[in-house]
Amino acid sequence: MTYGTSEGQTEKIADVIADVLRARGHDVHVLDIKEAGHAIPEGYDGVIVGASVHVGKHDKHVVDFVRRNHGSLSGVPTAFFSVSLAAHGDQTEAERYLEQFKDETGWRPERTALFGGALLYTHYGFLKRHLMKRIADDKPGSLGTDTSRDYVYTEWDGVKRFAEDFAAELEAAAA
Ligand SMILES: Cc1cc2nc3c(=O)[nH]c(=O)nc-3n(C[C@H](O)[C@H](O)[C@H](O)COP(=O)(O)O)c2cc1C
Repeated sequence: MTYGTSEGQTEKIADVIADVLRARGHDVHVLDIKEAGHAIPEGYDGVIVGASVHVGKHDKHVVDFVRRNHGSLSGVPTAFFSVSLAAHGDQTEAERYLEQFKDETGWRPERTALFGGALLYTHYGFLKRHLMKRIADDKPGSLGTDTSRDYVYTEWDGVKRFAEDFAAELEAAAA
């Protein structure tokens, strides 16, 4: 499994997915895309890719990696998960990001998921906190605006279900 992350939420999600797969007896390698090199190594029974959205776009490293490698992403079960705040409050927007990712990379993953991300006000620097507060102010009711705390919108049950479904597919492919 490989992922791209800026503030760490996609990494946390990747770790939860890995835990579910390991609990079912699978051997899992979790790789930050920045350390993944240029190609997908041979020998994997399945590949999951995850990326977060910033300013309307998925992590550039992931887009470049998938664009280069989508040939080797066929033939084994694959899945992609997208992490964004839109996935929490604006499904249409989150789906638009996903379509854009597919268009940009040319990859058609068999399984996709949209997971809510995190609003980490206490971790952001001044400018980012200000920017994110403005975005949250424009989405009344859906995003928190108290900058003295963090908000995590990831639905962990959905993440676990996604991992269980992928594990079931791997097991079916191996049987
Ligand atoms: C500077 C910045 C810009 C962002 N832009 C968007 C955006 O355009 N659309 C969206 O849905 N979420 C946006 N987000 C929310 C991120 O997708 C969310 O914080 C996610 O948890 C980040 O995942 P990561 O920590 O793995 O990078 C933005 C977050 C930051 C900090």
